[in-house]
Amino acid sequence: MKNIAWGKLGFHYTEPDYIVRSACHEGVWEDPYATQDKFLHLHVQATCLQYGQEAFEGLKAFRGVDGKIRLFRWRENAKRMARSAEGLFMTPVPEAVFGKAIHLALEKNLDFVPPYGTGATLYFRPLLIGTTPRLGVGPGRDFEFIVIPSPIGPYYPGKFHCTSFIVNRYVDRAAPYGTGQFKVGGNYAASFRATEAAHNMGMDCLFLDAKYHKYIDECSAANFIGIMRKGDKIEYLTPRSSAILPSITNDSLMTLAKERGYKVTRRHIRLEELADMSEAAACGTACVISPIDRVIDPEKNVMYSFGAEPGEVLTGLYRALKDIQYGRAEDKHGWTEIFS
Ligand code: PLP
Ligand code: COI
Repeated sequence: MKNIAWGKLGFHYTEPDYIVRSACHEGVWEDPYATQDKFLHLHVQATCLQYGQEAFEGLKAFRGVDGKIRLFRWRENAKRMARSAEGLFMTPVPEAVFGKAIHLALEKNLDFVPPYGTGATLYFRPLLIGTTPRLGVGPGRDFEFIVIPSPIGPYYPGKFHCTSFIVNRYVDRAAPYGTGQFKVGGNYAASFRATEAAHNMGMDCLFLDAKYHKYIDECSAANFIGIMRKGDKIEYLTPRSSAILPSITNDSLMTLAKERGYKVTRRHIRLEELADMSEAAACGTACVISPIDRVIDPEKNVMYSFGAEPGEVLTGLYRALKDIQYGRAEDKHGWTEIFS
């Protein structure tokens, strides 16, 4: 195992020994291969550089309580990357190529899988880029698929603590029926102006729908979850929107929430409804569940507060998901794959 201060890792890149690559020409993907070369020899007119023909993914491998390494729902990432590819007119990476590349990247970097109990995981960043040189505006026909592993720690500093969010109405992340439903780099670049301003204030951004600026869409790199309580009835609420990424974490949490007897509702959520929620959080592969302590709406001079400590409903869901990922609880849904 590498000599890394695993417990001190944040969400930063640590150079792995190998990355895995596969190119596609004339619709045919080559067999993925491992290489130590982390640089691309890319034409300056490549469609990924000129016209943003690019998509990526994010998934994790966990070293469990039993010492075994588990990959979490990688087939869902493969499917989502295929949808992103179709959305940007790229040749989708077949699931077999995606899977082979992930497994090879893990096999070649086993020393980078963090030990159990450190809070760190091995994160994989699958990347798909258009490599055809073009000046005329239009899609390329050649692609490169790359899997880049990196050990990471928590996305937000601290293991399970609250983050504050700010709402803005001057930067829209993604349009309805635009690229928000795909995991493409342009969405993130489009949010930088807002997220950097929020980070400078020690917060992150909660984006509203781009058409009405009325409904909650999602966070810059995560879906939104709100918890409503009426007596002993608990409702798990999450936005329905054509501009947000279908989160695999959110999907898993919805299943776990239903199992606990919570009502799960996916619908348009007005920003003002935050006032009726007892708990709120961002959720995603990188941030798992990051509870929200407050959401500030500076233009309306309103602050929604959820308490300084993570609430019990989201804490319970967080533990349930982590227990499956680390092999501490039975994986009834077949979400994890033991790497051998
Ligand atoms: N929404 C956005 C914009 C994201 O970048 C991510 C991260 O991947 C998510 C949601 C969460 O998706 P997942 O749970 O599949 O990681
Ligand atoms: C993830 O959660 O995997 C992400 O990709 C979000 C972000 C770091 C881009």
